Amino acid sequence: MNSGTNQIDTVRVELGARSYDIVIGRGLIDRAGAILSPVLATPRVIVVSDDQVGPLYSAPLVASMERAGIKTALVSVPAGEECKSFAGFERLVDALLASHPDRQMTIIALGGGVVGDLAGFAAASLLSGVDFIQVPTTLLAQVDSSVGGKTGINTRQGKNLVGAFHQPRMVLADIATLDSLPERHLRSGYAETVKYGLIDDAEFFAWLETHGADIIAGDPQARRYAIAASCRAKARIVADDEREAGSRALLNLGHTFGHALERAAGYGERLLHGEAVGIGLVLAFALSARLGFCSPDEPERIATHLRQLGLLSSPRDIPQGSPDAETLLGHMGFDKKVKGGRIRFVLARGIGRSFIAEDVPLDEARAVLESALGDSGRLARHKTA
Ligand code: GLY
Repeated sequence: MNSGTNQIDTVRVELGARSYDIVIGRGLIDRAGAILSPVLATPRVIVVSDDQVGPLYSAPLVASMERAGIKTALVSVPAGEECKSFAGFERLVDALLASHPDRQMTIIALGGGVVGDLAGFAAASLLSGVDFIQVPTTLLAQVDSSVGGKTGINTRQGKNLVGAFHQPRMVLADIATLDSLPERHLRSGYAETVKYGLIDDAEFFAWLETHGADIIAGDPQARRYAIAASCRAKARIVADDEREAGSRALLNLGHTFGHALERAAGYGERLLHGEAVGIGLVLAFALSARLGFCSPDEPERIATHLRQLGLLSSPRDIPQGSPDAETLLGHMGFDKKVKGGRIRFVLARGIGRSFIAEDVPLDEARAVLESALGDSGRLARHKTA
């Protein structure tokens, strides 16, 4: 194989009339007009981006669209999770309506997961639904959040509680955008890539153990391969269960523990989403080992890989620490009142062999957290015993 610099991979998400391609390669934003034209109902788009990503990539995107004869307007939102709110949604919809949209035009989300979720939800709602396209610019968005069709905003009760399933017409993942991503965010997105190896592709996880450092270092071929493998895994799961009636919950591997840690750390720079997911993956495998589904070597193997890539692998690694086990269980929505003391959880029989367990004893999840937290994890238990 050559250096892979100009190669393009295409992954199809098979959803009948809502099927779409994920196109992965370097320099795609410069070619976006020609690539996206065939999926546009009319040659008119509104690009939604934020004030960090927009200045880097909206000009080449708009130029490429206009070269292809596509009329293009631009709407900018403030960067950051705050705009994924009712107020941010209202501001975006106001700006979109000011551009006199029609039902045949297409919204393009240019940015990370926040812009993708917000612009996707605006597309699902505007004029009762217009087409949208994802142009993800972070590793996390390229391997995970731009694919699958869940769009939405946060409310004061929690994250992503208001939204809609609205599949994009195409996902254009230009890996050149990863060159401008801060390394910590790159590593954070990498944890979601690891998740796909752990869910159902042991060979991919083994490949990551060898090539993960190349992904972080910027090897275009390794990046393209990892993004395509992750998207193929997500496409399989979404095609099987688009609206999360069952197997799609496998995508939550590592996220139950991860969300609790993220919430405890305040959803910010102290602990990024992917960093929390990485720790959550180790804990989900530790719980699986504790319940006898896999060998204790498996969580250790995952933790070793994460550490080698500069990621956190334990709640004890979180700057300023983590609350005790009982508090974390509360953040997961599991408290002492859980019916029968049993909870639903994504577990694994080994790397690449995840499954949904319906009746995990809450005490076992507590024990895993207490063990991972060391002395601080047991404090609440002693206090409340
Ligand atoms: N948009 C993210 C998902 O559907 O999973």
